Amino acid sequence: MEKTWWKSSVVYQIYPRSFCDSNGDGIGDINGIRSKLQYLKELGIDVIWLSPVYQSPNDDMGYDISDYRAIMKEFGTMEDYDHMLEEAHALGIKVMMDLVVNHTSDEHAWFVESRKSKDNPYRDFYIWRDGRDGKEPNNWGSCFGGSAWKYDEATEQYYLHLFSPKQPDLNWENEAVRKSVYDMMTWWCDKGVDGFRMDVISMISKVQALPDGQAGVSGYGDFGPYCINGPRVHEFLQEMNREVLSKYDLITVGECSGVTIEEAKKYASCAGNELNMVFQFEHMDLDGGETFKWNHRKIKLSELKAVMSKWQTQLQGKAWNSLYWCNHDQPRMISRMGDDSPEYRERSAKMLATCLHMLQGTPYIYQGEELGMTNYPFTSLDEFRDIESINAYHELTEGGIFSPEEMFGYISYKGRDNARTPMQWDDGGQAGFTTGTPWIAVNPNYKEINAKEQMGRADSVFHYYRKLIALRRQYDIIVYGDYELLCPDSEELYSYLRAYGEQKLLVLCNFTSAEIPYEFPRLLQNRKGELLISNYNRQQAASSGVLAPYEAMALLFGSAGSDDTAETGLYHS
Ligand code: GLC
Ligand code: CA
Repeated sequence: MEKTWWKSSVVYQIYPRSFCDSNGDGIGDINGIRSKLQYLKELGIDVIWLSPVYQSPNDDMGYDISDYRAIMKEFGTMEDYDHMLEEAHALGIKVMMDLVVNHTSDEHAWFVESRKSKDNPYRDFYIWRDGRDGKEPNNWGSCFGGSAWKYDEATEQYYLHLFSPKQPDLNWENEAVRKSVYDMMTWWCDKGVDGFRMDVISMISKVQALPDGQAGVSGYGDFGPYCINGPRVHEFLQEMNREVLSKYDLITVGECSGVTIEEAKKYASCAGNELNMVFQFEHMDLDGGETFKWNHRKIKLSELKAVMSKWQTQLQGKAWNSLYWCNHDQPRMISRMGDDSPEYRERSAKMLATCLHMLQGTPYIYQGEELGMTNYPFTSLDEFRDIESINAYHELTEGGIFSPEEMFGYISYKGRDNARTPMQWDDGGQAGFTTGTPWIAVNPNYKEINAKEQMGRADSVFHYYRKLIALRRQYDIIVYGDYELLCPDSEELYSYLRAYGEQKLLVLCNFTSAEIPYEFPRLLQNRKGELLISNYNRQQAASSGVLAPYEAMALLFGSAGSDDTAETGLYHS
């Protein structure tokens, strides 16, 4: 397997609005990020993924861009941005931009032109259709509720928006659109950015007939089969690769909801003619269902292991994985897959971190994850800022699908604002995020959970992440080793074995608050592994024993003994 810098990197995602506010207006900004670069350096990450900082009316918090070559006023100026890039580079940190090109804002100049008249040169930059019997061109529903079409009186046609009506979809069939996007990307590359995270890039190619989709509980049709991994998506990405990506040394990751293994092998092929890697969603969708993510379901460990293992083994040698538990669209992982009670918060945070960071792929850390930040204790609807939660609340309660109480519980548990509350820097007012009033409330647990306290305490979650990152840098087996799942049926224990040359790495993670017996696989019996990391400060581990609540450890075995593939002899009773 070819070694590259982006395979051995650890990426840290910044959601700028909630990271650090430098001027007291309650909104995180670029100068705030600049003031925390040293913190990131200390954590040891290699790359920052910056959620959108472009000019935007913020209907979807920056994912609705009105000018790709300007910085959002609240975030600062292009000069601030240039300084940030320079300062990050001086610290050896690369910067990856969010590239949102499935859609623009309806306030983007292209759309302002496009909607003016049917013969405007920009008309064909977007997807316009006549209505059908006085109604929408088809039955598709948008990701943020309601129809995916909006009628525009000026020209008496509808435009497509898979997200909010303020996010019209670009028409990638139009060569001029593609050229404009590539020019814009080139402009950023020439500025010195180091890569792109490509927003919903699996949706840019649509089946041109735009057929009706199967209706779901909301009554709207599912656009998925006609827009996700669409007919020309690989052709477009190969073109983008030829025109832009191949000319620079970049890290690229496609956000690919609906991606399958077969598709991922094309998007992220080792041949390198599209992207470096994809964000797949199968593990995140395990607690979803009929009503999308709105429920209280818990992810079943055996199912999580099956999904993670499938991606680990089936991309092996063919394509490259990304690794993540969290981002700005997901609730906090400890509240979802761990235990956010004071008793087990730190243990479970470290356990989940171990489980993810010892896998093959490029790990992504979402701001605050390295502190074990938790979901927010919502008590009323007006604490929410996210269009997705607010719209879903209205649609599903008004449609009689859930009672207001039920739906409030679901958005509180799964809503994206859980990830978007301000970063908790210290135990001072507003967690050190701002001197003003934050745009979204700070989680009241900042007195206990904050960066300052954790940086000063050797056994904190922060220092544990530091260690995981340092280990990845030190051991190739963590980056490149093969993967094998042990005890697939256990609902308590996630354990796996990595192999690289003569070396083995055994990872044991207890996903419960109970004590769980473990035993090394047969080929490692009576061998003494070197304990690389332990969230219980263990110094050694015997071939069999008991794992404490949420205990995790990784053991390295050197070249002694056979290097047969492990028999899955690891079990628990
Ligand atoms: C992606 C982003 C999400 C945004 C959506 C529309 O899923 O991560 O935050 O709402 O695309 O741009
Ligand atoms: Ca600010």
